Amino acid sequence: MSRIFSGVQPSGNLHLGNYLGAIRNFVRLQQDYECIYCAVDMHAITVWQNPDELRKNTREVAAAYIAAGVDPEKSIIFAQSSVPAHAELAWIFNCVARLGWLNRMTQFKEKAGKNRENASVGLYAYPNLMAADILVYRATHVPVGEDQKQHLELARDIAQKFNNDYHTETFPLPEPLIFGAATRVMSLRDGSKKMSKSDPSDYSRITFMDDRDSIALKLRKARTDPEPLPDNEKELEGRPEAANLVGIYAALADRTRQQVLEEFAGAPFSSFKPALTDLAVEKFGPIGEEMKRLAANPDHVDAILKKGAERAAAIANPIIREVKDVVGFLQP
Ligand code: TRP
Repeated sequence: MSRIFSGVQPSGNLHLGNYLGAIRNFVRLQQDYECIYCAVDMHAITVWQNPDELRKNTREVAAAYIAAGVDPEKSIIFAQSSVPAHAELAWIFNCVARLGWLNRMTQFKEKAGKNRENASVGLYAYPNLMAADILVYRATHVPVGEDQKQHLELARDIAQKFNNDYHTETFPLPEPLIFGAATRVMSLRDGSKKMSKSDPSDYSRITFMDDRDSIALKLRKARTDPEPLPDNEKELEGRPEAANLVGIYAALADRTRQQVLEEFAGAPFSSFKPALTDLAVEKFGPIGEEMKRLAANPDHVDAILKKGAERAAAIANPIIREVKDVVGFLQP
């Protein structure tokens, strides 16, 4: 059986990059898989989160799944901290994963920066919790961006070492599902930086909360260069802003960059930007409107999260029981 697990961190400012790189794919996978989608609040607190913001952002992730088209009747949407089996399995994995493995994780190095001594222990052990998220459901496939591939490799290593150490076949080795090239969405202010929740400029990103007017305004202000669009992808090299806007157009239109360039070859940005704006407003505008409706109705979102947590626990609880038994924990 195939089962999908994926998660998004509730750390605020969900943006077009999260949509095109992740959440949009979550919607499509519902047709072919049993899907479990999580707001990973326990991952979020590996760096400081204001508690009220965390609550708001956890609901925002759930709302984003729903607004983008994840069907909560079909797929499971829930908050990580409400299913304790994640934390229980993460501890066991803390005892399976090796320091040497975690020392290689590039995301920890980036996030901890120079001040490594002051990073939380949770930030360091983050990949073990991520492995637990996936394996506590025996998920077989994990849609992730390029940046999470290394963590997924680690999850496979943990599953394999656990199975070997205990002479069992407790866990499947989860496979990554990496989606196409258009998943790297860059800042609208600087085409060399990734679109990010933490960029101080709100104009650098289009968020799930933006309405049609602000989508249009941000795209109008988006940085470009003075040249018209070329007729082939090769000539986008060295033009990061142009490449980014063409990439966004291609992703939203479900076309390749080359196809987009064939249509807009020779066009100046004064005509490409309005076309991009129309498309972005058409595709992303309704999501923003649904986000507003859901934000005004937190009880509705909470009810979905509660039901999701019950369904998730119903899958995870028998698995964590079995794991504890394998490890040798008494279970009165
Ligand atoms: N680490 C992922 C990210 O930052 C989020 C995440 C947590 C996740 N647990 C997961 C993704 C399990 C896939 C599967 O994007």
